[in-house]
Amino acid sequence: MTIVLVGLPGSGKSTVGRQLARRLAIPFVDSDQVIEQRLGCSIREFFEREGEARFRDIEQDTLDDLTRGQDVVLSTGGGSCMREATRAFLHERGQVIYLRSTPEDIYRRIKHDRGRPLLLVADPLQRLRDLHEARDPQYRECAHYVIETGRPSVATLVNMIVMQL
Ligand code: S3P
Repeated sequence: MTIVLVGLPGSGKSTVGRQLARRLAIPFVDSDQVIEQRLGCSIREFFEREGEARFRDIEQDTLDDLTRGQDVVLSTGGGSCMREATRAFLHERGQVIYLRSTPEDIYRRIKHDRGRPLLLVADPLQRLRDLHEARDPQYRECAHYVIETGRPSVATLVNMIVMQL
């Protein structure tokens, strides 16, 4: 069974995904890493050069490819649920887990991280609040389960996910 992790940047998709994959003894795949390999440059550079819409096309194609093959734990980029068509095929092909965090928790975790293009703005916390408001319904629509990531450790989050599967 493929497990798809969705949620805002900094919600722990890669960290939790890696441990979950180890626990389930299936490969871990990070869609952003695969996209960067395909692009031959960083997502940040691509965003700046080609714009967001072009990036979303490539993201959609990559997620499509990655959910057709063997079972994996797939960590997706934070914008993966923005398109209805992508939400639909992710929901159909995997067990989708929404790692739900408050914008404040996320901000605390990633405020020093310069690799996230959407957060390179004057007020990243406000940006996270806006993204949360816009995307929370989209993640919920795509997901089979919602896991609140506030207090629990990564190991506990992995246990919570395994119990839902
Ligand atoms: C994005 C999130 C990023 C990456 C890209 C766009 C978004 O992934 O795909 O910068 O729109 O939220 P992470 O969620 O892994 O940071």
